[in-house]
Amino acid sequence: MAIERTFSIIKPDAVAKNVIGQIVARFEQAGLRVVASRMIQMSREQAGQFYAVHKERPFYNDLCAYMCSGPVVVQVLEGENAIAKNRDIMGATDPKKAAKGTIRADFAESIEANSVHGSDAPDTAKLEIAFFFSGSDLCSRK
Ligand code: CMP
Repeated sequence: MAIERTFSIIKPDAVAKNVIGQIVARFEQAGLRVVASRMIQMSREQAGQFYAVHKERPFYNDLCAYMCSGPVVVQVLEGENAIAKNRDIMGATDPKKAAKGTIRADFAESIEANSVHGSDAPDTAKLEIAFFFSGSDLCSRK
């Protein structure tokens, strides 16, 4: 299976709950490696650009306001089948529908404050990684 990289955000609700380490541990236990990581507070403009694909959705403005309401951890995860694996570990977008033992089932508050974001496909992973990281920010992990 191919080694992939995917983009991940630990959202303001999870940072506020002080569960960054517990979330990263779940990625590591599943065989994913952190190859870049940074804590940031997004500007409204940054959040708006990042989520531009949802611009026409009714939740867009609230989502952008939420994403810049507190610090987040942006990171790049690497490993076999990393994109799908990350999505399995996160669980469904709506924590009420997320499977037991997933990050969102265990930590998320609501569909908006849903603890984590993860890329949904290889092309979006590339774009999302490049949105926050330059090539020299990504470390090789062997
Ligand atoms: P995320 O994986 O970050 O991608 C887009 C985000 O939009 C999603 O997680 C949710 O937090 C949010 N979202 C998706 N659908 C809804 C909805 N119906 N109402 C509010 N927020 C939503």
